[in-house]
Amino acid sequence: LSKIEVKLSDIPEGKNMTFKWRGKPLFVRHRTEKEIATEADVNLSELRDPQHDKERVQNPTWVIVIGVCTHLGCVPIANAGDYGGYYCPCHGSHYDASGRIRKGPAPLNLEVPFYEFPDDDTVIVG
Ligand code: FES
Repeated sequence: LSKIEVKLSDIPEGKNMTFKWRGKPLFVRHRTEKEIATEADVNLSELRDPQHDKERVQNPTWVIVIGVCTHLGCVPIANAGDYGGYYCPCHGSHYDASGRIRKGPAPLNLEVPFYEFPDDDTVIVG
C-alpha cells in the first residue's frame, strides 16, 4: 500500500527516473562509475550537511532519494547544476550525485527513504 517496487533494469546507467510515492516524487538514480568515484571522494568538510556517500546508499550504483528540495519543496531537475546531481530551479540549490546539498539556499541533503533490495533487480521503498 505505502510501498513502491521499482525494477532496476529499466533504468539505464547515468539516468535518474522519477516515481510517485506517498504523494511525493521519488528519485531512483543509476550512477555511472565516475559519479560513484566522485561522490565517494568528497571531503566532508566541504559539506553543509556532512554525510559520507556510504551513509546515503546501500549499493553505490543506486541513489534513492525523495525528490523534494529541502529549501521550500520544489522538485529538483536531475543531471543538472554545478555538481551534476540535481538542480532546484526555484531558488538555485545545487545537489551532488549523492543528493547532498552543495550550493544555494537549501539547508539539508535530499532525504533518503527506507528501502531494501529483495533481489538484484528490485528495490522496494517504504
Ligand atoms: Fe529549491 Fe528553494 S525550493 S531552492
